[in-house]
Amino acid sequence: MRCIADSAPGPSAAPVPLEGPDPAVVLRRFRPTDVPFVAAIVADALHEHYDPGLYLSLSADWPEGFLIAADPHDVPVAFLLGVSQVPREARILMFAVDRNWRTRGVGRRLMTTFLDRCRERGYQRVTLEVRVSNATAIRFYTRFDYSVVDLLRGYYSDGENGYQMARPLP
Ligand SMILES: CC(C)(COP(=O)(O)OP(=O)(O)OC[C@H]1O[C@@H](n2cnc3c(N)ncnc32)[C@H](O)[C@@H]1OP(=O)(O)O)[C@@H](O)C(=O)NCCC(=O)NCCS
Repeated sequence: MRCIADSAPGPSAAPVPLEGPDPAVVLRRFRPTDVPFVAAIVADALHEHYDPGLYLSLSADWPEGFLIAADPHDVPVAFLLGVSQVPREARILMFAVDRNWRTRGVGRRLMTTFLDRCRERGYQRVTLEVRVSNATAIRFYTRFDYSVVDLLRGYYSDGENGYQMARPLP
């Protein structure tokens, strides 16, 4: 799984309006019906194609770690999928905003909320992987206090190197 982060909708799956520059977008938990929309964003933004069941299984362990940003029609326009595979650490497996919704603060809101979820769980560190060529994402992560901790040679399926980035959670 490269750079890439169900439960049945419960009370906490209700959309939560967020303050920010684009109030039309709300953040909520992932639902199984989001899979086709998430898969389309992944295909376009991350150039990856995963079995739909993967999203369901990844969300099972930590449903609050799979955040969806939805438009006024409740259609996902961005998402952040986080998991925890190491004690007291979270890892961002996938993070992408639909190209038509970028630079409107949606990514910032997803990351801010995700870091809050991590703090609620007592996590002390967050890690992720990113292509060395993905300057936009690296700049974005750097603004959120992530720094490069490792070079991952040939990490991506096309042979490109990756960076592992990490940030502490105070
Ligand atoms: C990286 C990504 C998630 C950022 O999401 P976004 O919604 O466009 O970002 P935001 O609008 O919230 O911007 C947050 C900050 O980053 C800056 N930023 C975002 N995109 C930028 C760009 N293309 N150029 C310059 N700055 C940019 C914004 O100016 C903003 O800065 P500020 O907080 O100081 O105002 C988005 O570009 C994306 O989905 N890229 C393709 C998928 C990808 O690369 N995912 C990461 C894989 S590891």
